[in-house]
Amino acid sequence: MSKITLDNIDFKNIKLPFQPHVLSGILKLQGDSMMNFHGLNNLVKSDQSITALILKIANSSFYFRGNEVTTLEQAIGIIGFQTVISFSIAASIKNAYASANYSKFRKFVWQHSVVCGIVSKNLAVRLHLDQYKEEAFIGGAIHDIGKVILNSLDRKLFITVLHEALDANAPFFAIESKYFGFNHNELGARCIEFWNLPEVYKIIAMHHNDPELVVGTLTNENEKILLLLVAYGDILAKKYKYGQLTEQDLSGEARIAQKLGLTNEDRNYYDNQFLDEMKGDAFYQFFITLL
Ligand SMILES: [Fe+2]
Ligand SMILES: [Fe+2]
Repeated sequence: MSKITLDNIDFKNIKLPFQPHVLSGILKLQGDSMMNFHGLNNLVKSDQSITALILKIANSSFYFRGNEVTTLEQAIGIIGFQTVISFSIAASIKNAYASANYSKFRKFVWQHSVVCGIVSKNLAVRLHLDQYKEEAFIGGAIHDIGKVILNSLDRKLFITVLHEALDANAPFFAIESKYFGFNHNELGARCIEFWNLPEVYKIIAMHHNDPELVVGTLTNENEKILLLLVAYGDILAKKYKYGQLTEQDLSGEARIAQKLGLTNEDRNYYDNQFLDEMKGDAFYQFFITLL
């Protein structure tokens, strides 16, 4: 078998139970006009697993109002349009991660990614950057998508990487490069490009571990802010024990916080209070327990 390199990966034939066109379609829906209502309806209906999940959520104790919800239209009425959009995005992404259902992958890749998304979104709100909150969630949820692809390319080798990174408390990208010849950052960026998702997610996938290296060179303010939000969300997720916190994360933490404009009070809040609040969040409950 010829060696896999970044340039000869056949993205079309990587098997993931994931429909990138559904995700990119949902990402394009803005505002809750009638047209978008139909757009969301059609997109979600084209992916049965998303529809099933939305109905399950609408009928859960979080939202249940006494009558069983059986259609997407009713679910939107109960949960709200924007929230259904967020859940649909997360459900669509969940399918990509579902390709690897073993406990270490669930904890260190899937749960890590969901928590990173939730924290990044919350950071946006706390910093009065509400306009970035949905993109921050998505950026956080897909920043490590390269690990899913590595696992699909060679599951056995990726498990070796996982164990070695955890045992040595070393960053994943270093161990991945040693075994695969490339890392999840480079691979994730290529994949996002192949799926035609917005450029900002490619930048996040590529640079969430070294944001300081590029943030000064980015001319687009949105890309700068979102990269920093997700990079900090990534570190916090690891501090909450969803992921492996390394020396490198700790050494960059204060500088990234400063670039974002977080005060000591904010940092204190995230270090001591946020984790408990997050555990009561509907997103957290659904996506951490689902996979
Ligand atoms: Fe990563
Ligand atoms: Fe990460």
